[in-house]
Amino acid sequence: MTRNKVALIGGGNIGGVLAEQIAFRELGDVVIFDVVDGLPQGKALDMAAGAPLAAADAKISGSNDYADIAGADLVIITAGLARKPGMSRDDLLSTNLKIMTQVAEGVREHAPDANVIVVSNPLDAMVYTFKRHSGFPKNRVVGMAGVLDSARLRAFVAWELGVSVQDVTALVLGGHGDTMVPLVRYCTVAGIPIGQLLPQSKIDAIVKRTQGAGGEVVGLLKTGSAFVSPAFSAIEMAESILRDKKRVLACACMLEGEYGVDGLYVGVPCILGAGGVEKVIEVEMNADERMLFDASVQHVRTLVEQIS
Ligand code: NAI
Ligand code: 2OP
Repeated sequence: MTRNKVALIGGGNIGGVLAEQIAFRELGDVVIFDVVDGLPQGKALDMAAGAPLAAADAKISGSNDYADIAGADLVIITAGLARKPGMSRDDLLSTNLKIMTQVAEGVREHAPDANVIVVSNPLDAMVYTFKRHSGFPKNRVVGMAGVLDSARLRAFVAWELGVSVQDVTALVLGGHGDTMVPLVRYCTVAGIPIGQLLPQSKIDAIVKRTQGAGGEVVGLLKTGSAFVSPAFSAIEMAESILRDKKRVLACACMLEGEYGVDGLYVGVPCILGAGGVEKVIEVEMNADERMLFDASVQHVRTLVEQIS
């Protein structure tokens, strides 16, 4: 059986963790593409030398030439600037817009049949840009944010209750920014709604921390943003696509009528499988949740209008 091929566009902090984990879990052979001469080659060589120790036969290579991503089944894009202290995700828009436009051209030409996961920020605008410039069908272009935001919420709930992170499920919808919508009614511990386990004041504090969690890491690191948890979030999506697991995950999906939204990428639950986004799932929201979701959609719309 031939192994899948995964192309990583961007070999920085997230790209490095992605390469290591994808290869060492043997999810596929990995090609790291980056514009910096020697960076992807050096990272690939280092990891390839670790492969015998990880008992992994997947191949890892690095390149500055798009031709080397040919035949990729999956492309994960992390190319672009990351946040520094004092910057919002939206401050990255103009620089990353130019980068994403080039990336879309490279992927369209060399990996036209791939499924694509976009990670670069501002996420909802970057995944929209990739879709627009690549011309790929909407099911094959998806953005990573909700898995990460939900994982942060899961971690904070588990720490507060002293329970396994494994038993906490959460759903964070909307855009990837301060307006994200953690749907706490749908957050459970082994099926028990957290409203039965935590006072409202604690839940409110956890929601606030989740919304600011990316910034909390930037403030501590000072040199960049979170990269391990984003990489693991993208891998959860990648595995569901490559192994056709049909996981139900919160992802930025192109909405065409669902949730009353048309022509925007917004974080919603979907089924991810070999066909990419196989179905968008519409969850019921109460009036308060709907108001927050609509505000988040409006934020994404304003961002996208700046690039259209
Ligand atoms: P990084 O700065 O470590 O890596 C970015 C890499 O992109 C660099 O190696 C750079 O050389 C490369 N690059 C720049 N222009 C390129 C081009 N035209 N083609 C190919 N590669 C190019 O940044 P990091 O930490 O890996 O983050 C990557 C992106 O992911 C950032 O935009 C960041 O804001 C975003 N991010 C998104 C998250 C999400 O939840 N969606 C979470 C965390 C970060
Ligand atoms: C994060 O949420 C900055 O989007 C990045 O960590």
